[in-house]
Amino acid sequence: MNMYDIIMKKRNGGALGKEEIEYFIRGYVAGEIPDYQVSALMMAIYFRGMTREETLQLTLSMAHSGDMLDLSKIRGIKVDKHSTGGVGDKTSLALTPMVAACGIPVAKMSGRGLGHTGGTIDKLESFPGFTTGLGEERFIRNVNDIGIAIIGQTADLAPADKKLYALRDVTATVDNMSLIASSIMSKKLAAGADAIVLDVKTGSGAFMKDEKDAVALAEEMVDIGRQAGRNTIAVVSDMDQPLGFAVGNALEVKEAIDTLCGNGPEDFLELCMTLGSCMLMAGGKAEREDQARRMLQEVIENGSALDKFARFIEAQGGDPAAVYNTDLLPQASIVEPVASPCDGYIAHIACDEVGMASLLLGGGRQTKDAEIDLSVGFVLRAKVGDLVRAGEPLAVLYANDKGKAAEAKKRFLSAFHFSEEPVERRKLIRRIMMEK
Ligand code: URA
Repeated sequence: MNMYDIIMKKRNGGALGKEEIEYFIRGYVAGEIPDYQVSALMMAIYFRGMTREETLQLTLSMAHSGDMLDLSKIRGIKVDKHSTGGVGDKTSLALTPMVAACGIPVAKMSGRGLGHTGGTIDKLESFPGFTTGLGEERFIRNVNDIGIAIIGQTADLAPADKKLYALRDVTATVDNMSLIASSIMSKKLAAGADAIVLDVKTGSGAFMKDEKDAVALAEEMVDIGRQAGRNTIAVVSDMDQPLGFAVGNALEVKEAIDTLCGNGPEDFLELCMTLGSCMLMAGGKAEREDQARRMLQEVIENGSALDKFARFIEAQGGDPAAVYNTDLLPQASIVEPVASPCDGYIAHIACDEVGMASLLLGGGRQTKDAEIDLSVGFVLRAKVGDLVRAGEPLAVLYANDKGKAAEAKKRFLSAFHFSEEPVERRKLIRRIMMEK
C-alpha cells in the first residue's frame, strides 16, 4: 500500500477501504507521510466526498490515533456537548453549570476560537489564572468533586485530528461534511462520554451555511455516534445572526453569567434550555422535556447554577470573584455606540462578518499563535426583525485601539442589511435529531 495510490483512488472517485484509511492516519501521525500528500488527499476528499462507511472508518481511526480517555471512575452517565462553532456562541459557559447543578457529571473537552468563530477555552481565560491543562487524574477528580471539568485537546487525544485540522485550516478544506463530522466525532469518542449532545449550527455564521447541509451533517454525526455505541442527539440551530447579544470573549462571559442570574437574552436562554433538556434526558435525570426544563429553570432561580460555575472556575485556577462581580472581568478602554446608518427593519446580519469585525478588534487570532484581547467585541442592541431609526445604536463597540475600532466598525456595519417592510424573526431551533 502506498499514499500515491490512495490519493489517486480518491481523486478518481473511488471509496477508500478501512486498511487504506488506517494506513494514511497512522503514517501521518507518525510523521512518515508528508503534509503535501495529505493535503492532496484532503482536497480529493473535498471534491469527491466520502461514503458513510468511509466517514465512520476515518472517525474511528482518528479517535484511536492517541489516548482514549477512560471516564469509568466518574459516577453516573457522563454527557458531553459540542457545538460546530458560531458567533456569540457562549452556550457551554452557561449550559455546563446548569446541567451540572441538576446532577449530570460534565467531563468536557473544549477548543479555542477558529476563523471567525469563538472558542470556549479563550472565553474562560477571561478569569485570570484559569487553566484547562489538567492532567487526567485531576480532570476526573474535579468532575467527581464539583460536577464539571473542562480540558483542552491535548497532544495525546485524537492527535490525527489535531494535525489534520491545522492542515485543513490552511488548505481550504475545512467545510466538507465528512471531514467536519469525523473531526468532531473523533474528539468526542476519544474524550470518553457515554452520551453526546451536538449543537449543529446553520446560517451565515456557521461552517454549514445551508440548512440542508447542516441537517445532513447532524444525521451523519448521530449515525457515527450510534455505530460507536454512544447515545447521540443533535440539535440544528440558527446561526444566521449572533447568538444572544454579546460577541467577544469577556463580553460573552458576562452574558453567560447574566443568564445564570436569570437575566439572559431570550434566544440564548432558549438554546441552553433545549440542549440542557437533551442532556438531562440522555443522562437519565429527566424522562420528559417539560420536567427537564423545570429542573433547569430551578437551578437558575435558586442560584445553584451560578455557584456551580464559580466553584468550577476556582477549581481550575481562576478567580471566582468575577462570577459575582463582572466588573472584575477584562475591560476595554474605548466604549462607543455603532449607529444605524438608516431607518428600517433589520433584514439580515451577515454573522461571519460580525465575527470578523470582532477578530479585527483583537478578539480572535489572525495568525495561529497570536494573543487575544479578551476585553474587546460588540454587544448588539438590535437583531433581525427589529425596527431601528437612523442614528440609534445597532450595537456598542468595545476596543483598545482607535485604528482597529474604526476598521472593525466599518466591517460590522457592512454586515447589516435593512428592509422598509417588517421582517419575520428567525426561528432558533430548526430540528432535534436522535438515534432511530
Ligand atoms: N469543529 C471541529 O472540531 N472540526 C471541524 O472540522 C469543524 C468544526
